[in-house]
Amino acid sequence: MQNHRWLRAPESAKRRISFGADYNPDQWPREVWDEDVRLMKRANVDVVSVAIFSWARLQPAPDVWDFAWLDEVIDLMHANGIGVDLATATASPPPWLTTAHPEVLPVTAEGHTLAQGGRQHWRPTSPVFREHALRVVEKLAERYGSHPGVVAWHVNNELGCHNAFDYSDDAARAFRVWLEARYGSIDALNHAWGTAFWSQRYGSFAEILPPRLAAAFPNPTQQLDFARFSSDALKDHLVAEREILNRMSADIPVTTNFMIVGETNFADYGAWAREIDFVSNDHYVTQDLDELAFSAALTSGVARGRPWFLMEHSTSAVNWQPVNRPKRSGEMIRDSLTHVAHGADAVCFFQWRQSAAGAEKYHSAMVPHAGEDSRIFRDVVRLGGILEDIGDVAGSDRDPADVAILFDWDSWWGSQLDSHPTERLRYRREAQDWWTGLVDLGVRADVVTTDTDLSSYRIVIAPMLYSVPDELRLRLSSFVETGGHLVATYFSGVVDHDDRVWLGGYPGALRELLGVRIEEFRPLYEGETIPLSDGGTGSLWSEPVDVTSDDVDVLLRYAADELDGLPAVTRRSVGAGSASYVSTSLGIEGVRRLLPALLGGADVASDLPEPLHGKVETTSRTGEHGRIRFLINRTDDEVPLGSITGEFLHGGPVLEPRGVAVVRE
Ligand code: GAL
Repeated sequence: MQNHRWLRAPESAKRRISFGADYNPDQWPREVWDEDVRLMKRANVDVVSVAIFSWARLQPAPDVWDFAWLDEVIDLMHANGIGVDLATATASPPPWLTTAHPEVLPVTAEGHTLAQGGRQHWRPTSPVFREHALRVVEKLAERYGSHPGVVAWHVNNELGCHNAFDYSDDAARAFRVWLEARYGSIDALNHAWGTAFWSQRYGSFAEILPPRLAAAFPNPTQQLDFARFSSDALKDHLVAEREILNRMSADIPVTTNFMIVGETNFADYGAWAREIDFVSNDHYVTQDLDELAFSAALTSGVARGRPWFLMEHSTSAVNWQPVNRPKRSGEMIRDSLTHVAHGADAVCFFQWRQSAAGAEKYHSAMVPHAGEDSRIFRDVVRLGGILEDIGDVAGSDRDPADVAILFDWDSWWGSQLDSHPTERLRYRREAQDWWTGLVDLGVRADVVTTDTDLSSYRIVIAPMLYSVPDELRLRLSSFVETGGHLVATYFSGVVDHDDRVWLGGYPGALRELLGVRIEEFRPLYEGETIPLSDGGTGSLWSEPVDVTSDDVDVLLRYAADELDGLPAVTRRSVGAGSASYVSTSLGIEGVRRLLPALLGGADVASDLPEPLHGKVETTSRTGEHGRIRFLINRTDDEVPLGSITGEFLHGGPVLEPRGVAVVRE
């Protein structure tokens, strides 16, 4: 982050947890706006994101601009004490632009050009798109750059949501420039990409293409570099818009909404976070509460523990899954407070008023089709009140934990490339199993990027840390040598930054530190498991592990097949620290069984009394109003909090099903 500026507010204003939504008044007749204001006040809404998809309305033709409606919306919000997070409106180009300039449309790996008619149909590297988009940004900055009602700038929207990978000629040109900057010479690229293989040697950068549909597996490092490049190309767009905003509207902080959720992995948000004033995230529930909490913790990790902005989530059903069910009673409030527990200082939704037409008319909103006399709106009003009750948490940082889960986009991209020992590995799934194991034991954890200073952690868990450049290898070694406890899983340390294998046996870069050596991987088939000495099983992966150092203890062994009796989980003592290796996927159950030994060895205690283990997740935040603790009911039953005491700002001392308690200590 540049310097962590939060929503602009008068000096005298007490910081609060902001509450609101994407607001699309341009979809509604004028009289509805007054009704909106009345309902926003009832719900305690204080911030709305405006003009996200309004380009075609703001600029109906190349030289025609219409700001009158937006002037009125911003003034109306301001007059009613509702801040505007003003979007730069560049997310979706209008049809006149794509008609006049079809060369802005993205091209797939198969060579198909995507058409207008949906949204976000633009090439991140198109100079024509960039020119038109920046013109809109300039116009908006010029007109609203010092409007007292604008509290933040919202660059574009979910950059890359539908256009992250573009294989067009523009992309090819920009990819070459990016590669030349990265490698300096074509010889260096040839070495990094291993082009001695399959006659892929390049004579010059001009010969290089994006990894378009090829006759066989495209070069893996080319694919990895294209993933890095594509993330950077979107980040460049973010920076280009931000620079205009910083220049023309210096007092207003700039953000953009990330998509840290589930398997979405096209952007290295750790790097993006450095380009904005505060981190914003959009999160939609696709699995379960632990996925939500893990995403929120990772969002906090990229925000370096500082408050972040939950820009979008849903009050109830979405419209983009095969079957879309409403949230159950209590879930909307619990989901919201779980984000706050992990550092969110704003709780916003897509969107304020449910659309009557268009692709998202069946997506829930704060004001549903049914109107204000509805379960959803009553819950919205209730949530607005709760956020006020717990307002003292606003501005506070999320308390760091003793345990960190290391998260690395290079390893995510690299470990799931094609032509690998197995295509069944899921980087994020493995990381989340460790998260759930910890939460089940009442242990708080951070999820941090690899450039984070690790020295304050007792345990660092590295799930599938596939890519380990030398610099990271050295930092992990010194973490262990200075008393830290490292836990690395299978398929870690295998390659360097260029996806070139560390030779001499796996896990390559971490082999000496872990005191083990593996000659061959032995992935498991779908449905296949391998028994372990503690009665559990491994899945996805197994390995014949050789112990290479006297100070290695075997914590678990394989108990069948040709691996029978061989080490499955090892722990090497290194002074006061240790380095453990887990050579198979233990799943949540297995992780939970193994963790007590690892936690005990590192002196990490549970943050919750035993009766709450498994049922409750806990986090805390500390700021000028003291340490405030969150206790989140992960079950559908009531949970008495027993020995937990303090000033209950919300909920407790018996947690409602799916309820949350917020307690000042
Ligand atoms: C997001 C997007 C919103 C809305 C929402 C629906 O991806 O930013 O505009 O489409 O999803 O869940």
